[in-house]
Amino acid sequence: MALFIISGVTGMTGNELVRQILHNQGSNNHILGFDNFFASSIDTVQDSLGDSRFEFFEYDLNNTEEMADLERRINEIKEDYDEVIFINCAAVVHTEYFYRVQETFETNVRGMERFLQQAIRVGAKKYINCSTSEVYSMNSWNDHGGVSENDYLTLSTVEHSQRTSYAVGKLLTEFFIKDAVDKDKIKGCSIRFANVYSKDERFPKHIIPHIINSLIADGKVTLLENSRKNRRTFLNNYDSCSAVLALCNSESALDGTVYNVATDEEITIIELVKKCGEGLGISDPEIIFSGYRKSDPERRILSTKKIREKTGWKPVITLDKGLSECIENYLEHKKE
Ligand SMILES: NC(=O)c1ccc[n+]([C@@H]2O[C@H](COP(=O)([O-])OP(=O)(O)OC[C@H]3O[C@@H](n4cnc5c(N)ncnc54)[C@H](O)[C@@H]3O)[C@@H](O)[C@H]2O)c1
Repeated sequence: MALFIISGVTGMTGNELVRQILHNQGSNNHILGFDNFFASSIDTVQDSLGDSRFEFFEYDLNNTEEMADLERRINEIKEDYDEVIFINCAAVVHTEYFYRVQETFETNVRGMERFLQQAIRVGAKKYINCSTSEVYSMNSWNDHGGVSENDYLTLSTVEHSQRTSYAVGKLLTEFFIKDAVDKDKIKGCSIRFANVYSKDERFPKHIIPHIINSLIADGKVTLLENSRKNRRTFLNNYDSCSAVLALCNSESALDGTVYNVATDEEITIIELVKKCGEGLGISDPEIIFSGYRKSDPERRILSTKKIREKTGWKPVITLDKGLSECIENYLEHKKE
């Protein structure tokens, strides 16, 4: 029986974690979750709000008083649970914000670190840190099974793009958690997700909702010039969350190190548009290329051998299944 503390709980990862913790993980777990609605809304957890095991707070990770209130609530109830687990999902995430260096630093680095200190103060047993596969930057693939957690990195820098500030910030958080675990203050790890998507994404900033919503609107889609060549793998948020919980349940894996979480199903962005078109009954959709993003690797393939071996986790949602759920859901919302 665990008490989960989740930051960024109404975001794509957070809201699905709530569902999986309440429904798959045993009935007596309790969740204290908060979000400042920077990039989400209360709608995403509407289905869990009536559940007494889930308490939601509209709090900002960077607000000292609100975080002190959260800490008071944790201290009030923590003795009723076998363990306290912190999962830090709050972050300035979407690509358009990657270039906002100060905001990214405040939330993704300082906020993460303060949340870690809070976890240690309240005696939490585990802290899961969401890092990112963006840290692989310009060397994010190879032809022998994908990049591994212990590969050396080739980062683009300020000479190339401010975009890298997001990855560099996340990389620093990996050191914070490693340091805390090495000093026996807590158990934990960092996770490098690659391109997570969700059927419930209501704010279409990411590529899959962008493609589907554009095709639904007028049968065509505008892509960056990079998409003429780019390939990606896409991870359904059901699978990203099952990986987080698999790690929470595998104490020996929480050694302060890093885990790649991704699928092996690589697809070109152009094939992705065609696939979405097929799902919507549009054959050969029109693609307009406009704009170019610097420091965007052509491919991103991650080896997930480490998490599979340590926890037995594997993704279960194929891209075909995930895409058809997205299409069905977006069409449904269009009717509302
Ligand atoms: N989505 C991806 O493809 C992806 C890939 C790699 C890593 N990640 C990481 O996974 C984690 C979860 O990402 P996600 O996909 O759920 O993103 P998301 O943007 O959907 O969720 C992040 C949530 O954090 C909230 N938030 C932002 N600043 C906050 C603050 N100061 N206080 C409280 N809440 C705040 C946002 O409102 C949002 O609900 C993040 O750390 C992200 O960097 C995501």
